[in-house]
Amino acid sequence: MLPSRRAVAAASIASIASIATKKFDETLKKDFLVSMDDVIKNPFGALANDVETRLGQSYGFRPARFFVARPLSIVKRRRERRADARTTTATTASTRARIARTLARARSATLATRDARGVVASAPPDEGRARRMSTARFYDDVRDATTRAMRYSVDGTWRTSASGSTCEALNPSKANAPANRFQACTTSEVDEVFAKAREAQRTWQRTPLHARAALLHRAATLMRENAGEMAEALVLEVAKGAKDARVEVERSADLIDYTAEEGVRLLGEGKLLMSDSFPGNDRTKLCMASKVPVGIILCIPPFNYPVNLCVSKIAPALIAGNTVVVKPPTQGCTATLHMIQCFLKAGFPAGTVQAVTGRGGEIGDYLTTHPEVNAISFTGGETGIRVAQKAGMVALQTELGGKDACIVLPDADLDLAAKSIVKGGFSYSGQRCTAVKLVAVFEEVADELLSKVNAQIAKMTVGQPEDDATITAVVSKSSADFIQSLVVDAESKGARLCQEWRREDNLIWPLLIDNVTHDMKICWEEPFGPVLPVVRVKSDAEALELVNKSRFGLQGCVFTKDIDRAIQMADAMETGTVQINGPPARGPDHFPFQGVKDSGIGSQGITNSINVMTKVKSTVINLSKPSYTVA
Ligand code: NAP
Ligand code: G3H
Repeated sequence: MLPSRRAVAAASIASIASIATKKFDETLKKDFLVSMDDVIKNPFGALANDVETRLGQSYGFRPARFFVARPLSIVKRRRERRADARTTTATTASTRARIARTLARARSATLATRDARGVVASAPPDEGRARRMSTARFYDDVRDATTRAMRYSVDGTWRTSASGSTCEALNPSKANAPANRFQACTTSEVDEVFAKAREAQRTWQRTPLHARAALLHRAATLMRENAGEMAEALVLEVAKGAKDARVEVERSADLIDYTAEEGVRLLGEGKLLMSDSFPGNDRTKLCMASKVPVGIILCIPPFNYPVNLCVSKIAPALIAGNTVVVKPPTQGCTATLHMIQCFLKAGFPAGTVQAVTGRGGEIGDYLTTHPEVNAISFTGGETGIRVAQKAGMVALQTELGGKDACIVLPDADLDLAAKSIVKGGFSYSGQRCTAVKLVAVFEEVADELLSKVNAQIAKMTVGQPEDDATITAVVSKSSADFIQSLVVDAESKGARLCQEWRREDNLIWPLLIDNVTHDMKICWEEPFGPVLPVVRVKSDAEALELVNKSRFGLQGCVFTKDIDRAIQMADAMETGTVQINGPPARGPDHFPFQGVKDSGIGSQGITNSINVMTKVKSTVINLSKPSYTVA
């Protein structure tokens, strides 16, 4: 008996582990927990350890931890159980109950920690558990049951467009095979969405601030609980590595929680001004200045962070009493719609959070010039410049492209600089606005720096996002073609490719390009891919000229041990942010984040976004007699 049961158990664990490491699905996790009963029947702690390790590596989920921590006691108990085969059923039931108890304790401990920090207080542990069990099909109604196309969100429901047309997101990692379809919304559907947003905004702005914050916390909790499919959609449609996809969802939930906390403080206070501080006045006028919502905010995120760069817009908008209309990017649309579902399921009133879908090239102008829009928060590329040119009298927050330079001075810690260049230049295959897109290194340390960078590039994995390869396919064929054209141009003008040029469909192998000069396009253009140009410089002034001649001005970084020189360089760099001894990055998400020149208008970061999405209203009390309060 034993050998065959052992074989069956081993095979089933191996198969569960292999499937589970590839899938994020919550249902699968649940199934996995049930299957752990079978694991407990087998005495091979090592095998279970392997399962745990692989699950932990894949997405930090460690259902078997309590079990693996005590394999010997379980083995002992298993031997006792074997003595009486007839008790097996009852034992399995008690094991199930023990698993449930242990998990419930772990969950309640997590929630209690959050409560103590005041971060999340919405779901009591039992309710949270019940909801988790019942949300296996959490995202079901986002998809049309018949056509399987994703639907758009209007007035608290999901609807299929009357247009009868859809548009398509492709899978960048699978030679651009079809991935998902979305509704191509009509202009009258857009009108309806804006009408509902206006109606809802009148009530929403009068909803108590603490209640708005509680709903945001609830949405964040739901995002964490239903992160699996959302992250999977990022892997499928934008080729984001599985771990990074999960991090994007978790980071977004944290951003929502932080925004709710910041909002209750920032918006819970106003200003009282007294007239007698200005010459010619006594104190007969008292001015109450408070922050009020702008109205309806149109939120347009880019493909590379379709969840995070959407919540960074909608959470500040909502806490401030605005309603939002989201236009998801075509690539990445599914994850954005999943995120919207978390807000709907959290209980946001109908009309407060809606999403219209369709290609930007088709419905974009109609949306951005719609008379009901009061503010536009846009993140993307060149399109943003056109949006700004067309938008009328509305508040604008645009975060656009970048050409972030990394200046390496002769006294820099070259190991640190090399590590930062690799992380900054190649994470998410260079598809970050804040990616290092140009290295300006002093001639005397250039060879040493480049050999360190090249050594790290040699270790990078290139392949599938499901496997967490460092370099994955870029978002589209046209993007890959553009990157290739920049490399061809540079090579034809004398640049030296440090690695062999290699491309398969959208997948481009990481490439460092040395001896880049000002006449090459790659010196100025944003490749948005895993190719990184290097310009050798002789002076601070030459490095600064490179940075400041760019039409972009998002971030830049400087590596040196001389803090005075670093500050001098930072002062002179015409960029929204300068990082000293670290790679460019937007986060932590509460830091102010802004670009100058073609990199954007306004500032992001949680506090700044709340400010952009409010305006000041003054109410002045005119008194017949001066009022001087004394204490
Ligand atoms: P994109 O092509 O400019 O698209 C951004 C968004 O605009 C998408 O949702 C797109 O929808 C939509 N759109 C397209 N045409 C439109 C129109 N006429 N009116 C209104 N919206 C329209 O940018 P991307 O390719 O997604 O992202 C890459 C670029 O974004 C890079 O340049 C990168 O540097 C920049 N970026 C900047 C930041 C930052 O914070 N500074 C952050 C991330 C990315 P469709 O997908 O349907 O076309
Ligand atoms: O792609 C643009 C994002 O704003 C960059 O964010 O620096 O966190 O990757 P990140």
